[in-house]
Amino acid sequence: MRTLEWRGDHVVLIDQTRLPDETVWLEVGDVDTMIDAIRRLAVRGAPAIGVAGAFAVALAARRAEVTGSGDDAVRAEAARIADARPTAVNLAWAVNRVLAHLPSGADAVVAAAVALADEDVETNRRLARRGADLLVELAGTPLRVHTHCNTGGLACVEWGTALGIVRALHERNALTSVTADETRPLLQGSRLTAFELAQLGIAHQIVTDGAGPSVIARGLTDVVVVGADRIAANGDVANKIGTYPLALAAARAGVPFVVAAPESTLDPATATGDDIEIEARDPDEVLSFAGRRVAPAASDALNPAFDVTPADLVTAIVTERRTIRPAAGERP
Ligand code: MRU
Repeated sequence: MRTLEWRGDHVVLIDQTRLPDETVWLEVGDVDTMIDAIRRLAVRGAPAIGVAGAFAVALAARRAEVTGSGDDAVRAEAARIADARPTAVNLAWAVNRVLAHLPSGADAVVAAAVALADEDVETNRRLARRGADLLVELAGTPLRVHTHCNTGGLACVEWGTALGIVRALHERNALTSVTADETRPLLQGSRLTAFELAQLGIAHQIVTDGAGPSVIARGLTDVVVVGADRIAANGDVANKIGTYPLALAAARAGVPFVVAAPESTLDPATATGDDIEIEARDPDEVLSFAGRRVAPAASDALNPAFDVTPADLVTAIVTERRTIRPAAGERP
């Protein structure tokens, strides 16, 4: 099942804020609605927001064709779309890639966006096969896998990155079970990863984020595999907040820590993790739970959406094309 798709003059996407309770599809026909969907995480995950951004540029190009507002108006819309969220490089990458077709007209922009979505599926299938081979090479079989946030079909178009590898391992009968961190504050692990694992019939358990490192320390994990939002030129990895403690625990326990990401997540223009902008989200996401305030009225919160895992803690980065071993000194 595709989680977002172009439908001629609009986009349909699954509203991830409503899962797992309800499967609601949104119809998005204009740029503002798409930017809002990206910001409130109705569509989320680095590859998925890249494709959503590409589709939004296609909507802008079609609109400019009707109104006659010209290419500069589309470029201004593209800049707004690329700014919707700052950390995942896939968003600006995808926006720029389809925008390059603007001189050839709106049809060319739409075709480029649709091609990008198709490519995402193929890229992640290849990544899943390569990643499954790598995990078996690093940790044997059958595997107890630990993961964080959601990196499945919901975070991409159809096949996931880290969770795509889990799916491939399951199809090879090489998987014992998956431990999924709940991923506070927005619960991408317990709401979305667990939803996908249940649909695939994969045995899994949810742990609180605080429990993750000690689950690894207690020897209950053979390998950690996570996704990424941006990988700097030196191999530092930005991913969902709570990834870094897992990498520290894995290094201490001698457990391989693997990052699965398409080549589009590698950002040679960003030198190190220190140069990656970390999205600061609304403190209310931390201060409230299920719509109810749980902290004292006088309390404030810090809500960084991502953290940076230094390259020396990353056993391997696996992409659809290659494997890089940052902890052994290799650079992307
Ligand atoms: O804030 P989110 O839910 O968009 O964050 C997503 C993540 O951090 C994922 O791990 C990352 O984008 C990789 S998705 C294949």
